[in-house]
Amino acid sequence: MTTSPRGQQPSSPAEPPPGCPAHASGGRRDDRFADAVRLYGPEVEADFDAVEARLRRTHGPVAPVRLSGDVGAWLILGYQENLQAMRNSTLFSRDPRNWNVELAPDSPLAPLTAWAPLPNLTDGPEHARLRGAVTHALETFDRQGVRRYAVRCAHQQIDSFAEVGKADLVSQYTEQLPLRVVARLLGLDEQHVPQLITSVRDMLTGSATAVHSNALISGLLNDLFMQKRRAPGHDITSSLIRYKTDPARTDAVLTEDQLRDEVREHLRLLLTVAHAPTASLLASTLRMTLTDARFRGRLAGGQMSMPHAVEQTLWDQPPFPRLVGRWVKADTVLGRYDLRKGDLVVHAIGAANTDPAIRPEDGEPVHNNSSHLTFSAGEHVCPGQELGRAIVETGVDTLLERLPDYRLSVGQEAVLEHQALMSRVLESLPVEFTPVPRHFPHEQEVVRRPQPAPVAPQHAPAPPPAAPQQQARRRSLLGRR
Ligand code: HEM
Repeated sequence: MTTSPRGQQPSSPAEPPPGCPAHASGGRRDDRFADAVRLYGPEVEADFDAVEARLRRTHGPVAPVRLSGDVGAWLILGYQENLQAMRNSTLFSRDPRNWNVELAPDSPLAPLTAWAPLPNLTDGPEHARLRGAVTHALETFDRQGVRRYAVRCAHQQIDSFAEVGKADLVSQYTEQLPLRVVARLLGLDEQHVPQLITSVRDMLTGSATAVHSNALISGLLNDLFMQKRRAPGHDITSSLIRYKTDPARTDAVLTEDQLRDEVREHLRLLLTVAHAPTASLLASTLRMTLTDARFRGRLAGGQMSMPHAVEQTLWDQPPFPRLVGRWVKADTVLGRYDLRKGDLVVHAIGAANTDPAIRPEDGEPVHNNSSHLTFSAGEHVCPGQELGRAIVETGVDTLLERLPDYRLSVGQEAVLEHQALMSRVLESLPVEFTPVPRHFPHEQEVVRRPQPAPVAPQHAPAPPPAAPQQQARRRSLLGRR
């Protein structure tokens, strides 16, 4: 029997014949998804938006789909229905141990759904404890200090191609800047940053050397833990250690090894969750400045501030177009369907942001409104959103300021975006521009100089002053929100 809308055919699970090859998930047979649309494969990946629009027309706000390996799941397309699932942690769990499916060991879904004691995979008091450490660490940083540091990192990165007159903004800028900023906020010495950037990018792309890179990252993070345990500073690592060893904040008494492992895994999570979506958002916003004359014109002319420009991109091109996911904790109804305890739901964030029920279809810009679901909602709402926004806003702004005439060096059709289930990636953004001198004389000098605490504004020197016309431009771009 196939999945059927509520009020039509009832659905019922069949018992699994042991070892049946039809059970691609490795779990019990679930015929409710037998005829569901596949949300994987080259055809779907070529145009996810069209597939989701068809699903919305056919099924309404919630649709049955099959993920890789024909694993059944509910794709939530409606804005209100997504919000409902994100906010109701009694009914929708973030803990994958609630799943009624046992994946084949080599399933591509395994890395996305394997449980670990991390904030994004836990509920209730355990989630509160793990998340508390992260939010506390992020909140101790001064906002303006972070922005100043992001500007400094952007200048360093632009210096690597400013004199050449051409660059690929993806590999040379958007893929570098978020990690550069986050690595410094973690407290990592600047000399280790290039190694970390290479290893994290390698690990995330799952290349042949990903395991080796993962081990390198573990080594760097273990060393960082030891260093900050001996000599704490004003950085995320020291803050995590302080939080986790403060008896007033946590009941869990950790051994030294447990403390090191927990802190290391938190740091690894922060590096990965911070890098990929921020790099994607930066690339999407830069692409808009290169391909949409109205967008760039409004920015340059001051009709649209930089925060508004980034918010528009957050609505239209969310870095996680879909989010896997939440697990149903008790039978319930969502959209037109009966969901069962243990079912997986996938948040179609891009589809939710363009739901005709909340947004006109005419493509008009969304002004003064940040109620998109790009950072999710509820108890798990992204705690790094201000940092992500700060990196992207300063990243775009600094580039416009340094290289005001940057333009695509290929046709727009050559700018290719690839979407996978949970990611949106631009392959490259080749640009050309009038070469400009470096901002910092030499990278080496910057490295040799004593490093400012990136987040304490009273100690952090501002980057060298911009030329007067650049300062004027800066005010116009960052001045309004
Ligand atoms: C534009 C950039 C970013 C986007 C679009 C984004 C989006 C998201 C989304 C959709 C979630 C899932 C929430 C859920 O499970 O319902 C999430 C979780 C998370 N994000 Fe972000 N994020 C961004 C940047 C960052 C940064 C810069 C950091 C930290 C430095 C960060 C740290 C986290 C953490 C720790 C979680 C897990 C929170 C929890 O489950 O309690 N993110 N983010």
